[in-house]
Amino acid sequence: MLAIFGGRPIRERPISARPIVYSPELMKDIEEVLKSGALVSTHGKWVKAFEEELARFLGVRHALATTSGTTALHLALKALGVGPGDEVITTPFTFAASATAVLHANAVPVFADIDKETLNLDPASVEAKITDRTKAIIVVHLAGYPAEMDAFAKIAEEYGVYVIEDVAQALGAEYRGKKVGSFGHISAFSFYATKHITGGEGGAVATDVAAYAERARLMRAHGETGKYWYELLGYNYRMTELQGLLLYHELKKFDEFQRAREEYVRALLDGLARLEGEGLLSVVRPKPYVKHGWHLVQILLSVERLSKPRDFVVEALRAEGVGNASVAYPVPLYRTPLFQKMEGHGKGCPWSCPFYGRKVVYERLPNAEWAAERVVSLLVLPNLTPEDAADTAKAFEKVLGELRR
Ligand SMILES: Cc1ncc(COP(=O)(O)O)c(C=O)c1O
Repeated sequence: MLAIFGGRPIRERPISARPIVYSPELMKDIEEVLKSGALVSTHGKWVKAFEEELARFLGVRHALATTSGTTALHLALKALGVGPGDEVITTPFTFAASATAVLHANAVPVFADIDKETLNLDPASVEAKITDRTKAIIVVHLAGYPAEMDAFAKIAEEYGVYVIEDVAQALGAEYRGKKVGSFGHISAFSFYATKHITGGEGGAVATDVAAYAERARLMRAHGETGKYWYELLGYNYRMTELQGLLLYHELKKFDEFQRAREEYVRALLDGLARLEGEGLLSVVRPKPYVKHGWHLVQILLSVERLSKPRDFVVEALRAEGVGNASVAYPVPLYRTPLFQKMEGHGKGCPWSCPFYGRKVVYERLPNAEWAAERVVSLLVLPNLTPEDAADTAKAFEKVLGELRR
């Protein structure tokens, strides 16, 4: 009997995906920071050391640490001069920040549809949404799956728009042998606790263009060019030294962590092969020319062949002990009240801003709707093991075996 109906679960102790942060070497450095009292990046060395390491890792000239992925996206948009009257195209099948950062910059998000094989933005749909107001495209490498960067570079060139990469979920992933986050005019990263490396919270922007890096640097710290002298509208998006320290140490271990993720994923894909062969689900698999970052394993259920909807399947999996199962994302962003009500900053800005002077319509996008109805996501962190993967596959067998029709 399924555990959700009171049966015995596959796992007595549920699977729990957690970051690996602690190490004895780290403790010595933490102690040193605490003893020195240098907790802010303006007085310490760790944020700077992390930024240098991140730039080297990505193969870009400039990396700047921020407080979160959301503030990194906001800074990226501001560094490119995106503002009132501009449209920015992105995917509706993502975390809110990919689109809300556009609102923070007082510009209007426009949603394009996704590709059914990768669940990333479909370049053809993006191209169809370009207007004379389009200033940038935010390309999200969702779940760690690299987006089609060649196609986006071509669109950027042809229409004179910027490409911002949202790499929040894809640190270390590669498109045609090159790390994502090194393709766009500027890119944004998140170091939230579920991400590839974490400072608890944290983010970064990266770019090869000195002028964008300089603007981002200024805006990260109040737009201050001299002591109490403010050149432009800025923020305080500075990372703390302790976050920089954690991230520096974790980035050094990136390859080791990634191997652990890949082992888990390999075992999981093997374990799910039978259900996939029977057509009860399909796994979003990387094409041969990309290296998946595996932030999430995305599984698409054949909902029409199941007697219960996707949300029930996820609850049943969790009851079996698959604690890292969830739904990313249950509805396309344009259907949430934020985008339906269009209140924004109040008085309807940026949608009703006189600098915009147009009306955006958030129509339903068929592929985003399709994906949101059937996706199940498994969070991947380096503490997970091939045994966890095997138990997860067993739980899928048990739950789908029971619910198939
Ligand atoms: C695709 C994407 N973009 C942006 C963000 C925002 O990052 P943060 O939570 O660090 O603000 C996230 C975070 O979950 C994300 O998944």
